[in-house]
Amino acid sequence: MPLDIIVGAQWGDEGKGRITDLLAAEAQVVARYSGGDNAGHTVTVGEQLFQLHLIPSGIVHPHTRCFMGGGMVVNPETLIQEIDRLDALGVDVSPKRLKLSTAAHIVTPAHRALDGAEEARRGGRELGTTRRGIGPAYTDKAARRGLRAGLMRDPASFARQVAQQVQAAGEMLEKVYGLQAPDPAEAAELYGALAERLRPYLADVGALVGQALQAGETVLAEGAQGTLLDLDLGTYPYVTSSHPTAPGALLGLGVGARQLRRVLGVAKAFQTRVGAGPFPTELQGAIADRLRGTGEHPWDEFGTTTGRPRRCGWLDGVLLRYASRVNGLTELAITKLDILTGLDPLRICLAYQQDGERHNDLPDSAADLSEFTPVYEDLPGWQADLWQARRWEDLPPQAQAYVERIEALSGLPVRLISVGPEREQIIQRDTREVDSPY
Ligand code: IMP
Repeated sequence: MPLDIIVGAQWGDEGKGRITDLLAAEAQVVARYSGGDNAGHTVTVGEQLFQLHLIPSGIVHPHTRCFMGGGMVVNPETLIQEIDRLDALGVDVSPKRLKLSTAAHIVTPAHRALDGAEEARRGGRELGTTRRGIGPAYTDKAARRGLRAGLMRDPASFARQVAQQVQAAGEMLEKVYGLQAPDPAEAAELYGALAERLRPYLADVGALVGQALQAGETVLAEGAQGTLLDLDLGTYPYVTSSHPTAPGALLGLGVGARQLRRVLGVAKAFQTRVGAGPFPTELQGAIADRLRGTGEHPWDEFGTTTGRPRRCGWLDGVLLRYASRVNGLTELAITKLDILTGLDPLRICLAYQQDGERHNDLPDSAADLSEFTPVYEDLPGWQADLWQARRWEDLPPQAQAYVERIEALSGLPVRLISVGPEREQIIQRDTREVDSPY
């Protein structure tokens, strides 16, 4: 009856969709627990690369049941689009296997408009949100005036409540921001029709997860975003408005910690961030450009949801240890090791320096990271193309040493290493233990 959690150990975009896709082969249930369509998870459907924003990546495995948990905020329009696109590709997205929690909150057109308006009002200090209405929807949830998905059980009444919400938010948009508000009647008509379609998908996801665990099934909780974007545990205020961490999985699925088996942190072999906020190991210039790629390949570092170029830098061991601590990570998956081919030397941040003082760990999780200078260790790079590597022994010694250094710095075994975009370009490792750095 185990619960396994997959969490992003950095600022999102670590390649969690890939890892979920791999582990979903052994799970009966795959469940998203936080965030909304700000996420973009790339999976392979047959020959096609497919981007999912709301539906769990496990949907491409015919044997799974897939849940969207109560910790999520869901735009019904995006959800229907995703359902229709998957359906057209021959993926079974019937309500028999796809469930939406009645406790999830609804994103309306007014939330999206407010997200853009609030960003514009921040002037030069934007958070760089995805403008999907995520922050405003969670704001309404916390203010206890949000619309929960369960309301869609009665589409006519739901439509009326959507109209009221759009009307109220519209006053803010017009009076405070001087913007034109979405039309409440139009929103009501659209959302009423969407509710008719989504009604059969509604369920008490917490109860279903509980039953699955009770029946001995494996439940895989699929994180969106990353640890450092967590509202409480991330680099506030440059965070998302939800809890992408392992504690967020428990809350977002309505399940306790007793059945927890693995908490797998997914980290890139380097560091990226999209949107504003501190990033101690950020690089500018040729190496950053090289890590980012040109944008012509699907794996280049440009946002899946927004297309924005991602900021790139060296791997940050301090933040990796922090992610391990706050999530209770049991192991790591390192993605995109192949991208480091040809860079020599490689650098890993071991510690931070501030006013002549060295900090091996984050001195205060609420500290402003921009005040710290990274202390680097240089490691030799390698020239060999890693795309054909399938076993640990296929990796050049320098690549092995790089991964072993990550293990030593994080105190976590690296169980999975991705060396290319294809499903089979993953090296799975043994189960040996690694000493904790603490
Ligand atoms: P929001 O979630 O749209 O409110 O954006 C808040 C911050 O989280 C911004 O810096 C976004 O770029 C970032 N963010 C949100 N979703 C993702 C994601 O899926 N990957 C990476 N960054 C994200």
